[in-house]
Amino acid sequence: MAVTEWVKITYDISIIARESGEVWFHTADATKPESDLFATPMTGAGATGSTIRLLDGAINLGFARIEQRLARPELTLAGYAAALIGAYHTSVDTPRNLRRAAKRFEDLGRPEVAAYLEVRAREETGHDRLALKDLRALGVPGERLVANYMPEGIAPLCKHFDELCVQDYPIGCIGYSYCLERIAALKQESDIDKVQALCPGPDATRFLRSHSCLGSEVSHVEETIEFVASLPANDRTSVVQETYRSALIMAEGYNHELLKSEAELIEELERAAGERLPSIAGSFRSRGEKLDAQPAAWAE
Ligand SMILES: [Fe+2]
Ligand SMILES: [Fe+2]
Repeated sequence: MAVTEWVKITYDISIIARESGEVWFHTADATKPESDLFATPMTGAGATGSTIRLLDGAINLGFARIEQRLARPELTLAGYAAALIGAYHTSVDTPRNLRRAAKRFEDLGRPEVAAYLEVRAREETGHDRLALKDLRALGVPGERLVANYMPEGIAPLCKHFDELCVQDYPIGCIGYSYCLERIAALKQESDIDKVQALCPGPDATRFLRSHSCLGSEVSHVEETIEFVASLPANDRTSVVQETYRSALIMAEGYNHELLKSEAELIEELERAAGERLPSIAGSFRSRGEKLDAQPAAWAE
């Protein structure tokens, strides 16, 4: 029989997916508890065809509420530098955090989860350095910037991951990682080309490239889907629920950064660097824009 999987995500919304690829959202009527057909957690085995749809459904649901408000801001060097600083912060503790969770699963007698997390920890090692190299290629003091600047939208994400990895049963960290990696893997070659066209100096797209559809992120996502599908039902449920929560936090963070003007961003970065940053602010200043200019990147 074909596999059907479901996970209750919020008090009234469940995602249901079939191995054959169908997926839908069920909204229960809060006044009629008997209408909540998926209130009882699933207990059967998973399958990649349905598990991937639960995971991606959770991401879509997390981003759904902000989708219309998301403007496509103009790509700027300052915005890219801030994104790299964010990338550094979401990468620097990942191996340590994943190893901590792996150790916990080892102690819990779940060597297969521990082994999976160990592999992930190895694969993610050094990604913080890629971001630092890219910052240097942009001509800005990467070390000082990452030490003094944390993009507002990134801080809650990092905090959340730290907390997930020290839980007594840290299975949720897989949902968090899936959310970030799946979204990174959506980046296309044309996105990288755009950044490259903007950066006059040496290659500053190493992090972006490896965290895009061209890099290792694609295989990380595939491996995770297969692994999650092999987990018992209660673990799959927790991973999907955590994927949703991470997507919500990430979506909220996007809003923060988008509301910032380029002028504000440059000011914050220069304050963090303790110096002027002509390599990323030069073109902005030469356009004659004042640093107290109105938000430029925000469009309805
Ligand atoms: Fe990475
Ligand atoms: Fe990755």
